[in-house]
Parts: sequence; structure tokens; C-alpha cells
Amino acid sequence: MAALTEAGVPFRENEPFSKHTSMGVGGPAAVMAFPRSAAELKRTLEVRAETKAPHRVLGGGSNLVVADEGLDELVINTQDLDHVDVADDGTVTAEGGANLVRTVVRCCRAGWSGLQSAVGIPGSVGGAAVMNAGAYGFSISDVMREIVVFDENGARQQPPEGWRFHYRGSSIPEGSAVASVSVALQPGDAPKLGEEIRELQMHRVRSQPPGRNAGCVFKNPPGGHAGRIIDELGLKGTRRGAAVVSEKHANFVVNEGGARASDVIEILDLVRERVAREAGVELELEVKVWRPRA
Ligand code: EPU
Repeated sequence: MAALTEAGVPFRENEPFSKHTSMGVGGPAAVMAFPRSAAELKRTLEVRAETKAPHRVLGGGSNLVVADEGLDELVINTQDLDHVDVADDGTVTAEGGANLVRTVVRCCRAGWSGLQSAVGIPGSVGGAAVMNAGAYGFSISDVMREIVVFDENGARQQPPEGWRFHYRGSSIPEGSAVASVSVALQPGDAPKLGEEIRELQMHRVRSQPPGRNAGCVFKNPPGGHAGRIIDELGLKGTRRGAAVVSEKHANFVVNEGGARASDVIEILDLVRERVAREAGVELELEVKVWRPRA
């Protein structure tokens, strides 16, 4: 904390994850830092290296379940690293903590096409890049041009072969931080783009539950849909405390208010076991679960 103070990076002590995740569960981070620029992000990682503090990097918290006991670690929260620049040639450069949905809406309003499908993806631009988030057949890597990543010591990381992306994942290692992402967009018609994102948003409202959740909790298995499999086994409505498998979409777990992380994790384990036993499918988690390190 002294090193962060000296570096001029804002931080909070014992900051609850429930305030920083869309699922709304999780105990405190021992120290949560809030760098406001790429330079501060780099400095924070350097401080981490100097102090050898165990750490994690937190994006929008929209795909994350953190354990009730919290983490005795330095958590680097990118929420204030949120500048977005839309250039005249359609190059959009967003800092890692920028909100993806707001960035998409802004690009569409400015008449730039290519990001509209991402309007269904809550979370930060950096988080979306690391997990190659997607919706409606689109993945963020489809439009990615450049990505600035700092490693856990604050050095720029540039693999010679470039970053690799696959379904809901990338080669960007855990513990690295995305400072910014640039995407290349094409000229389009702003009113039409606006109509397109309104339709996608309406489709999402119709098919996915509102309220506190972490999006789809399992990846789709090859050739199938986790939501449909879970639904067909009659697992909608399965409840532990205030956590419940959504009646609207079976691949969502909703926190109805005051759920504990242990409730959510119990549901995830139960669904995975039932699907393995009764449908013969091994579901893989899409949400990240952060627990204290052994
Ligand atoms: N279905 C059911 N029951 C359910 C839910 C779905 O039978 O309870 C059926 C639907 O009727 C449909 C099929 O399963 O035939 C697929 O459902 P949906 O169209 O909702 O798509 P999905 O495969 O469940 C994926 C992404 C979502 C993304 C949507 C829309 C994954 C794991 N999920 O869901 O992403 O929003 O497509 O493109 O890839 C996320 O990543 O967090 C996420 C929610």
C-alpha cells in the first residue's frame, strides 16, 4: 500500500468483490488498485513485481464468481482506465477498462460498422479481448487490430507470432493486463446501425434473464448448446439460497438478492455433475471462479 501511495495510484483496502461483479457475490480484496491510465497500470504492475504481491487483474467483473472469503491479494481493477478514441479512418482504440457495450453504441452512432454484434456482451473491452467474448456468431477477435498487453511485471508483452484467439479464450496469460485494444471498422449508416443494435438488444432481453448474473456460465460443448441440455434435464429453477438456475435461459445462474458465492458454486457443481451423468456431456465453465490460492 505504501508503494502504491508513492506511485500515486488510487487504491482501497478490503474492497468487496460483490460491488465489482455483475453476479454480486464475493468477499473482499485485501487491496484493490484503480489505475487511471496506461502509465499507472504499468506502474501498478511494477509495484506488484517489486513487492512480489500475488495479484489478479479485474475487468468489468461480468464473467466472474469470487469466493465468499475474498482474496488476500492485490487486485488491479481496470474500471477507471476507460478512455475511447474514435479516429476518422474507423480505427477505434479503447482502453482496457472501457465498457464494451457503451463503446459499441458510440461507434454505431458515429457511423462505424463491425462491432454491432458485441452490443450483447456486458463487461470491459480488456476482459472481452482476454476471453475472446462473442455473441450472435461474432467474436471480438474478428475485428481486432492491435492489443497492448502488459505482463505481470509491467513490461509490454508482444509474442512474435501475435496473440492467438479461440472460442471464448486467448493466449493472453492470466495476470497480464490489457492496456488498450484497437479495432478496425468500416463506414456504415448510423441510423441502420442503430436499428441493428436495438434489434440485437431486444433479442437479448427476450432470451436472457435480467438481474444479477454472470452471463452464460458454461461454454457450449462442440455441436451443442449448454442452455438446451440443462433445460432438457429439467434443471431450470434449481435453487441454493438466493441463487437459481434461470427459468428464462438455463445456462444462466441468477442472484435474486443476497446469494453467497458458495450457493452459486454449489449450483455450478450440481449442474455439471447432472449433465455429465445424465446427458454424457462434460460441460466446461465459461465463468471464471476466483478462490484463494492453495
Ligand atoms: N435453449 C433452450 N433452453 C434454454 C436456453 C436455450 O432450449 O434455457 C436453446 C435455444 O432455444 C436455442 C439454443 O438453446 O435453440 C441456443 O440458445 P441461445 O440462442 O440463447 O444461445 P446460447 O448458445 O445459449 C450463446 C452465447 C451467449 C450469447 C448467445 C447469443 C455461449 C456459451 N453463449 O448462447 O453468450 O449471448 O449465444 O449469441 O457461447 C456469454 O458468453 O456469457 C453469453 C451469454
